[in-house]
Amino acid sequence: MINAQPAALASAPQAPHVAAFEAWMNGQLRNVEEALETWVPQGAPAGLGEAMRYGVLDGGKRLRPLLVLAACEAVDGSGEAAMRAAVAVELIHAYSLVHDDMPCMDNDVLRRGKPTVHVRFGEAQAMLAGDAMQALAFEVLTPDAGVEPALQARLCALLARSAGHAGMAGGQAIDLASIGRPLDEQCLRDMHRRKTGALLQASVMMGAACGRANAQTVSALSDYGAAIGLAFQVVDDILDVTQESQTLGKTAGKDLHANKPTYVSVLGLEAARRQAIQLRDKAQRALCLAGLAHTATLSLLADMVVDREC
Ligand code: IPE
Ligand code: IPE
Ligand code: MG
Ligand code: MG
Ligand code: MG
Repeated sequence: MINAQPAALASAPQAPHVAAFEAWMNGQLRNVEEALETWVPQGAPAGLGEAMRYGVLDGGKRLRPLLVLAACEAVDGSGEAAMRAAVAVELIHAYSLVHDDMPCMDNDVLRRGKPTVHVRFGEAQAMLAGDAMQALAFEVLTPDAGVEPALQARLCALLARSAGHAGMAGGQAIDLASIGRPLDEQCLRDMHRRKTGALLQASVMMGAACGRANAQTVSALSDYGAAIGLAFQVVDDILDVTQESQTLGKTAGKDLHANKPTYVSVLGLEAARRQAIQLRDKAQRALCLAGLAHTATLSLLADMVVDREC
């Protein structure tokens, strides 16, 4: 689970806004788990539901749902649409992890502290579970009632663009094509923005779409999402070399072993750390410029992206 308090703040006396953030986060994590539990089917045929539930439930920091819900609140949104968006983005993320771990991609055996889906259920079932999670995400976004059709269409468009060839899937293709090849910083940044940043930025934008934001606020939230989206993968690269598998819940040291270009292999550990901090600062500046500094939640989520230990 996500640390209840950003690591950098853990030893400091707890400021009231941090306590409020913790309470907010714990409440929303419960809501998200409940919604995922409701949505991911028990009854899909031939063991498919079991594989889907194994891949989605019981694990994961749920950062993307938290970003949807925090962005929505920052622009005075509320209601059913944001929770549906939170569930949908987590389903796309969980599907991306199931496929990322398969032998034809990163060939990983450990995820969220458990054997990966293909290890537990076989490759064909893992592929189908990922496919079904992706379809379910769009089913969740398109109810017969309760969310305005225009908002449904907007949320589908944001999620589809971030998950597809221009976003996550495209970034994953670049990742696999880059094994053993030196990438320059610009290509590395482009890959990370697509494979990981796009879905995190879309989480923020989907939350913003559920509220009332003017163009300047939407643009600032987009900048915030882009900065923390890239920072997240920079930190993922760092944690791969600095943490143990047990802490990560996934295999540590994998990138070096697989000869993948990362922020650590290309820039070095210290420069990668500096990049992550600069991106966090950039994200928080974007909030200030848009007059969203009062929404401590988004700012503390940016701290969490950079200070996390898993
Ligand atoms: C891991 O994402 C994959 C990347 C995009 C780097 P998370 O670190 O958010 O994974 P969970 O959801 O907490 O397991
Ligand atoms: C994965 O990047 C990005 C995804 C789209 C899933 P990684 O391959 O570095 O993620 P981990 O380290 O396996 O979680
Ligand atoms: Mg990968
Ligand atoms: Mg991987
Ligand atoms: Mg990684």
